[in-house]
Amino acid sequence: MNPSEAPKILVFDSGLGGLSVLAALREKLPGAEYFYLGDDALFPYGKLAPDVLIARVDEVIAKAMQGFAADCIVIACNTASTLVLPHLRARYSMPVVGTVPAIKPAAERTKSGLVSVLATPGTVSRDYTADLIRDFATGVDVTLVGAPRLAELAERALRGEALSDADISAEIAPAFVSAARAGEAVRTDVVVLGCTHYPLIQARIEALAPWPVEWIDPAPAIARRVAHLLGGREAPGQGEGRIALTAGRPASPALAQALIRFGLEDQVAF
Ligand code: DGL
Repeated sequence: MNPSEAPKILVFDSGLGGLSVLAALREKLPGAEYFYLGDDALFPYGKLAPDVLIARVDEVIAKAMQGFAADCIVIACNTASTLVLPHLRARYSMPVVGTVPAIKPAAERTKSGLVSVLATPGTVSRDYTADLIRDFATGVDVTLVGAPRLAELAERALRGEALSDADISAEIAPAFVSAARAGEAVRTDVVVLGCTHYPLIQARIEALAPWPVEWIDPAPAIARRVAHLLGGREAPGQGEGRIALTAGRPASPALAQALIRFGLEDQVAF
């Protein structure tokens, strides 16, 4: 990496969810050059079999790296990260940063002892997630909620479609648990946003929550990690941003506007 050049960061997700991570990266490293790759041809990843997902991510990251020699690869997708990080780290010499459910900070912050992880059906079924709970959430009751459609709803919102309250409520309701612990009535007080799509509609989700909770979005921590791995290097000004979406659909006017807000003015073919 040439220290006088802006660092190049590849941000990858199954669709538009990784934009929530890109926003945190841009805030921390505004001068970096970004290439955002969304594999919407195979969206949602939450429904893919593990071997299909691993092969696919391997293939599209390799293709992206041919045209964009990233200094850091960010897998801004929990569903993929909980499976593919070892493969990618074995293959690439530059840092590969993933996104996995923020169970450790959630366990540290809960007062009621009831934490929920809202994620895709894929992420909640992973050994990786079970290991995080075993290692970092001793004594905490963790409810895993595999939301079948919430990522898709967030994707549709960004493309400019209206979402119904009922659809969002049905997805988040199982994350809100009331129970008795040591003879005391308690309820969930921390919910992990375990899919990068969810922060994109966080205001809607929060407004529809049955009671207030603390929501944990790991994006700022990911951005700090990337900045650290890049050795604190940063270029002045606003770095360039490009996006490719594998399905090749032209962006709707609403999506085109949203992409500009995320600093991605240039949509390129993949
Ligand atoms: N944004 C993704 C995640 O963080 C996944 C959505 C999907 O493709 O199912 O898990």
